[in-house]
Order: sequence, then structure tokens, then C-alpha cells
Amino acid sequence: MVALGAIVTLVLALPALAAPTARGKPAKCPEVAPPTVVLDGNRLLATKKEVIGLTLKCNNGNGNGNGNGNCKNKPDPKGLVPELSHLVSQANSWLPRGPWTVTAKTMDVPGGTKNDYASQAPYWWASNWQNPSTGNKCPYIQRDGIRNPEVDNYTDRLDGVRMMTASYQLALAWWYTEDAKYRQKAGEVLREWFVKPETAMTPNLAHAQIIPCKNNGRAIGIIDFSQQYTAVLDAAAILGTKKDAAWSQADEDAFKAWNAAYLTWLTDSAFGKEELAAKNNHGTFAGMQIAGIASFLGKYDLARQALNDQLPRMDLYISANGSQPLETIRPTSFHYSTFTLIAYTRMALIGANKKVNVDVWGHKTPNGAGIAKAIEYIIPAAVDGQSKWPHQETHFDRFAAYDIVNYAADQGLQAAKAAVSKLEQPPGGGLWQLRPAPEQLDSIVGVL
Ligand SMILES: *[C@@H]1O[C@H](CO)[C@@H](O)[C@H](O)[C@H]1NC(C)=O
Ligand SMILES: *[C@@H]1O[C@H](CO)[C@@H](O)[C@H](O)[C@H]1NC(C)=O
Repeated sequence: MVALGAIVTLVLALPALAAPTARGKPAKCPEVAPPTVVLDGNRLLATKKEVIGLTLKCNNGNGNGNGNGNCKNKPDPKGLVPELSHLVSQANSWLPRGPWTVTAKTMDVPGGTKNDYASQAPYWWASNWQNPSTGNKCPYIQRDGIRNPEVDNYTDRLDGVRMMTASYQLALAWWYTEDAKYRQKAGEVLREWFVKPETAMTPNLAHAQIIPCKNNGRAIGIIDFSQQYTAVLDAAAILGTKKDAAWSQADEDAFKAWNAAYLTWLTDSAFGKEELAAKNNHGTFAGMQIAGIASFLGKYDLARQALNDQLPRMDLYISANGSQPLETIRPTSFHYSTFTLIAYTRMALIGANKKVNVDVWGHKTPNGAGIAKAIEYIIPAAVDGQSKWPHQETHFDRFAAYDIVNYAADQGLQAAKAAVSKLEQPPGGGLWQLRPAPEQLDSIVGVL
């Protein structure tokens, strides 16, 4: 973001672009940055102006409003036009789907109601799993790493991931294209899950990662939300730059009230406290989620405190050479090393908001390491593949590091700058320039 100031200044100095779009309406150049909490709103604004500048000419005469492939004569050193076509096709794939609601599940929620989010611990199996027609299901026993298909009966887990992914991609597609159909759909998705009283989720995760016969939910189930939920905040912030029937002031107020209640549950409930205290990536993601929601609600002191509380944990987490010993001992060590860095880099982005103002990126651990060192540690494998990863990994996805290394390059990390052109793009295509906030690209929840 350091280098970005120059671009923002330059773009803002230009007069508003008013050339016609494909539909003959003047392109609107917004002057206000969206109040996103992880994504840098000023950067989104500057990038949108660049995108409009690149795609306007393409639109002239050919009626192709998405800027696809018709800009051969315009320099596009950042690759914004190909990224826009990735984003638009991802957003298009959501248009005929959803909206999703927790009330659609056929399972009853033990100790709760249909409006409660519920999911089941994936590696726990009924005692009689080998012969379900005889004997007792209870107790459930752990078979680590072997996923029980029965958990899919609780459809909230996958539907929640669909809701989060769709609302984010649709909101971003609307931001860059101003095509109302994306805004319409994104608003519909958020209203169904958070706003409409009949279908809205209760604002807590008291019934996540249930082990049948044993409990009605567990603290570690908070990860079902914390790894991705902050993207939904940015989706709502983008939609909120305009108020209309697709996303109204009343929708925004209701969504904020939902978040205020959820935040209180996260900070004050026994589950919330237990998850935040977890020493592994669960605690890191829980802290990142609290910081993001607090920032979204304008509770900057709480956001600042949540980030500052994470810094001593980073000191224990990252070794002097940048490895993450708690993750490198795991069978999927590259996956988890990148996974934790998603939480750290998103925390750094939340802290970069001047109103929060915590320098997570610049934080140095007592052994001299930090996020930059931890990213340097994964770069050889991100560039050259698994042969350069000195730990066990049963399912190596080189592209899992794509966003993280791009983030570090933007911060000026030399090794990352040298690596970006050699990274593997994630399936569906990289979106870094349009959506410069790292996310988990190697999803392990299955087909969306
Ligand atoms: C859950 O799903 C399995 C298939 O994986 C099915 O056989 C079973 O009947 C379902 N249980 C309930 C309670 O719906
Ligand atoms: C990095 O440091 C860790 C922890 O001190 C150590 O176990 C590991 O061998 C080191 N890795 C490399 C590649 O030097």
C-alpha cells in the first residue's frame, strides 16, 4: 500500500471520465472510497478508475460491456482486463444460484432452532459406522482425517461458504462494472442470510462442529466463519456506497445490528473466549475476525486491541528462519503455513486502516522474524513447487500462496517482487489487483 499513494494521487488528479459505456450511459467515476475493512477502499477506488479507463475504449463500438479481450492497444501492465474477465465469470456463475439460508436444512438443531447455524465435526463417526443396521450410534468416535459424509446433512456449512464467496465476488463485480444485476444478487444473498427475520441466522455459532451424542456445538466451530467472514463485511461495505432497493439503508442498518450482536457473542461468550485463546490458527483467525467486525462497526479501539493482542502470539508462532513450527509438523504443512498467513496478512490490512493503526506487517518478533520472514520461507515452494518444501505435505497446491506473495510484493518485499510473475494462478484465475486482500485459495470444504 505504500507505493499506492502515488497512484491514488495521480488518478484523483484526472477529471472525471465521462465517455459512453456500452449502454450509452456515462460511466460513473465514484469519488468516494468504499469503507471496506480488510480491502483498502482507496485502492479499490483507484483501481476502479483504471479499469474504467481501460474498458471504456473497448466498449466503444463493439457493445461488449465487460472489457473482455478488446483492449489490445491499451497498455495494461497490471493485467486488470484479464482479471476483470476472471471476476465477471466467477460472479456470473453465482447469478442463477442461491440465496442460501440456515433455515433450509432438514436436520433439527440439537438444543437450538432452525435459525441457528449448525455443522457437524467432520472426522467423528458413529460407533456402528461399519454396520449401521445394527448396534448403537453412540458414542461417536474420532477417525482423524477421514471425513464422514453424514456431516453434509447439516447443509449450513457449505451453504455458508457459498453465501460468503458469492456475496463477495458479486459485490466486487458490481463495483468494477456497475452492472446492476450483480448488486441485485449480492443484496439478495446478504438479506436472505442476515436480514429477513424468517430466514436470518441467529447471530452466534453455538451449534457449530457438533459431535452427536456428546455435545450441541463446540468453540472450535467458530472457524467455520472466522476464516472467511470478513470478506462479507467488505461486500456489504461496497454495496453500501449506494442505497437503493437492491441494498437499502434499512438493509445496512439490519446487517450492522446483526454484526453488533455477533461481535458481542464472540467477545463475551464462553465459546468465543475459548476459541480466541486457542494457541493454533484458530486463535489467530478468531482475533482477525473480531478486529474486522469491530472496525466495520466503527469500534476502532476494540479493533486495535484485538490486533495488539495477536502480536505476542505471532512471537511464539514464527521461528527465526520464518518457519511456523506448529504448522510444519502437520501432514498438510504447506496448506496450514499459508492458511495462517492469510489470517496474519488480513490482520495487517485491517491494521493499515489509519483509524485502527496497528503495524502488524512491520511487527518484529523477538527473534527478528515477522510476517515478511514467514512469507520468504514459503516463496521457494510457491515458485518452484513441492521439491522446495522441506516438510510433509500430502496435497500440495502451489497456488495456495498466490495472494500472500502478491501482498508481500505490494509491501515492497524484494523476494516477493521477484517471485510474483512465477506464481501459479488459482483455479478460475488470479484476482489480486482487483481484490488485493489474501484469501484461502485451496479450499478444503469441497465443491461449492
Ligand atoms: C445423513 O446422511 C446420510 C448419507 O450420508 C443418510 O444415510 C442419513 O439418513 C442422513 N441422516 C439424517 C438424520 O438425515
Ligand atoms: C527453521 O527453524 C526451525 C525451528 O527452529 C527448524 O526446526 C528448521 O529446521 C529450520 N528450517 C530450515 C530450512 O532451516
